[in-house]
Amino acid sequence: MKLEDLNKEDLPTNEMCDIARKHGTDKFQHGYTKVYFELMKDKRYTEISIFEIGIFKGNSLRLWHEFFPKGRVYGSDNGRLLPNSSAILGSGNQNPSEDDKRLLEEHAVVADLDFKWIENERIKCAIADQRSNVQLQAAFKYFGCEKFDYIIDDAQHYQEHQQKTLGLLFPNVKSGGYYIVEDVCDYQELFQNNKYWGQKRADCTDCTDYVFEKYMKDGILESDYMTPEQVRYVTDNIADIFMYDCFHRNNSPINGSARLLVLKKK
Ligand SMILES: C[S@@+](CC[C@H](N)C(=O)[O-])C[C@H]1O[C@@H](n2cnc3c(N)ncnc32)[C@H](O)[C@@H]1O
Repeated sequence: MKLEDLNKEDLPTNEMCDIARKHGTDKFQHGYTKVYFELMKDKRYTEISIFEIGIFKGNSLRLWHEFFPKGRVYGSDNGRLLPNSSAILGSGNQNPSEDDKRLLEEHAVVADLDFKWIENERIKCAIADQRSNVQLQAAFKYFGCEKFDYIIDDAQHYQEHQQKTLGLLFPNVKSGGYYIVEDVCDYQELFQNNKYWGQKRADCTDCTDYVFEKYMKDGILESDYMTPEQVRYVTDNIADIFMYDCFHRNNSPINGSARLLVLKKK
């Protein structure tokens, strides 16, 4: 299967959509579970490992736990929106707490949060900023696992965060596995409507959407947030790539322009 074919086909709703809805993760509303099912169905009953960055209420970790009965499920989060965090304030809140503002600084985390409320014999979680290699490596040590069949970035969704995490973690995807970035914003929508979602260039050309659409067209990956070595590693190891454009597809209910970037590893 070529990944791009998933954009052409009218993907059906499936059992994973039902499980996602049951656990309350928005992966269902965004149409993401239609794509995930295609990428994951063949491995459903094997001992896969899946690592998701961004835990929130743990709903998606419960989805993976149920969908993969033999799977190992790992999660990390900087603590910003965890149920037991002092920083809880949604993004877009007009009066963010000092804790919340601090959490946009690199490597800042809410320490000392435990995950007793979600961990079990197949789910393990750790506190880590998604841009901190040191913190992510410490998380892997705690997990006892550093190579994953699937890595999903569903955390801050800012351009810098998405691309830094990809640069750091693409080596941690197993051969034949997938790295997926959720909620990739439409850079034109940000630009035209003067919206801010973590971009630093005024013309929005540092947006993940722009960077990877361009790579898919001309094979040149240019990111303000990845080192030249990381860029080389990523481009040398992409087996296939596509951007699932939920927003512009009429068969996917979605409120907002949130695309899904999928990279398959050689
Ligand atoms: C969209 S929610 C995750 C939703 C969850 N994956 C689901 O589907 O139910 C985003 C999470 O990312 C976390 N987050 C925000 N900034 C982060 C960062 N810099 N590093 C790691 N996690 C971060 C927030 O605390 C929040 O819990």
